[in-house]
Amino acid sequence: MSARLAIGLALAVLACAAPAAAQDATATLRRYGCASCHAVEGVRVSRGQSCTGCHQAIVERARGRASAPAVRHFVFAPDLEAAGRRLREDYLVSFLQDPHDARPRLEETMPRLPVTEADARVLARWLRRDTRPLPAGPAPSRANLEAGRAVFARVGCAVCHELGNADLGVRIPPEALMGLGRAAYEAPNLRHVRDRLDPDAALAWIESPRSVTPRALMPETNLSRADAILVRDFLWFADPGAPAAPASSSLDLRPLSRPVRFAEVRRIFDRSCIHCHAHTDGQSASALGFEPSSLDLSSLEGVRAGVLAADGTRRSILEPDASGLAPLVARLLRRHEEAARDVIPSRADTLAPIARARPDAPVGMPLGLPPVPADDVRRIATWISQGALP
Ligand code: HEC
Ligand code: HEC
Ligand code: HEC
Ligand code: HEC
Repeated sequence: MSARLAIGLALAVLACAAPAAAQDATATLRRYGCASCHAVEGVRVSRGQSCTGCHQAIVERARGRASAPAVRHFVFAPDLEAAGRRLREDYLVSFLQDPHDARPRLEETMPRLPVTEADARVLARWLRRDTRPLPAGPAPSRANLEAGRAVFARVGCAVCHELGNADLGVRIPPEALMGLGRAAYEAPNLRHVRDRLDPDAALAWIESPRSVTPRALMPETNLSRADAILVRDFLWFADPGAPAAPASSSLDLRPLSRPVRFAEVRRIFDRSCIHCHAHTDGQSASALGFEPSSLDLSSLEGVRAGVLAADGTRRSILEPDASGLAPLVARLLRRHEEAARDVIPSRADTLAPIARARPDAPVGMPLGLPPVPADDVRRIATWISQGALP
């Protein structure tokens, strides 16, 4: 190859690199259905595909009426532009592959999707595409801990934020949260700040969220730079409190001594399953990056028919598999295991080292939502053991 041709090729590759990366990211975002929940620039989804878009419209319609809205989950999802401007790239790469609960007041979590490491890197780079260098500040200092605690308490950060299980002296009744709106629900647990943000990004955010992104939900703090440094250092070194005991994940599956009918099981599915599982065509559009397949939990025939794969084969969710459990029950139990790090209510943080237990286990159900209560899992197990009768 001539030198000139080689240089020409190298330039062509350089010229293509940026748009190709953006295209890569757009295709990846589409594959995992990220835009079903998050607003994603350049990826449009119809109302019929957008979980949060459709749910917001439902909540909006119920506003001012006496009856509660029919949806509580996946009404909001964090703004990805704001996340990309402040969160570290290595944190994003790990979070996308192995999410954990970051917002104690939001029951739903980022669903565990089958995101590969390579795709997580593409997505993290895309998320960080607009970050500008932030002004450098002093390194966090433990000497500022107590002074920082005082500023943090004075400016009322704890109205919205928790910090592990630390008692910050503020308790908002759940009814009052509605009035505070989206910012109160979406405020992260500040115990993760030291893992999620670089010290300079944390400082810039605390000084002025709007200076990091005009899309911040968090109100301006109006702190002086000196006070912002104290607060940042408080967040870096504060004790997150005593760990809560993890909820037990060993469930009683002994069959009940009374008959359980499908109507009873159907009520459980209605609550949190059929919104993702009422498909019959084997090509479920909301596959979220999993192998396309469909499962119809809205009817007895559907539950008995099991999973229809895109290649036309079927598999049962009621017959025990190699583990000795019906896949339906196994998925519900798995969600109880995952919940120890996926669904952590305020002040119930186990503060356990965040390690991914059994990374290859099939993802628990309901995806991204709190586990089905133990009594209901037992009802379903009983129904299956009695022959899955109408
Ligand atoms: C079914 C809805 C849903 C889908 C699909 C989804 N997310 Fe999320 N995502 C959430 C929710 C809810 C949270 C907030 C969880 C929490 O903080 O506890 C979240 C959190 C995040 C965060 C952390 C933001 C922050 O400020 O803490 C990032 C980054 C993210 N999602 C990116 C993605 C990407 C990229 C995809 C596609 C691969 C995706 N999400 C798909 C619902 C979803
Ligand atoms: C076209 C509108 C629409 C779309 C799109 C939509 N939903 Fe829903 N969703 C609803 C309605 C209406 C209800 C309440 C129905 C009821 O009362 O049974 C609901 C209820 C739910 C519930 C049970 C109530 C709750 O808050 O826990 C879940 C879970 C749910 N949806 C998840 C999703 C997910 C995940 C997606 C995206 C993959 C999605 N929905 C997309 C309209 C929609
Ligand atoms: C009205 C509610 C509210 C108040 C009050 C509030 N925040 Fe926030 N904060 C938020 C929300 C919402 C976010 C998530 C990012 C966004 O704005 O979209 C956030 C994000 C943060 C983050 C980034 C955390 C992460 O893990 O991503 C830090 C640090 C932070 N806030 C510190 C503070 C401090 C310090 C105070 C008090 C000076 C404070 N906040 C007051 C709502 C609030
Ligand atoms: C947010 C959407 C969502 C919700 C809510 C949800 N699922 Fe799923 N479910 C999925 C996706 C996506 C898959 C494919 C995952 C895979 O292939 O591992 C799946 C797979 C399954 C499977 C395994 C099918 C197979 O291929 O073997 C079962 C069983 C199941 N779900 C049951 C439930 C039950 C029961 C509920 C309610 C308690 C529920 N799901 C709620 C999205 C959801």
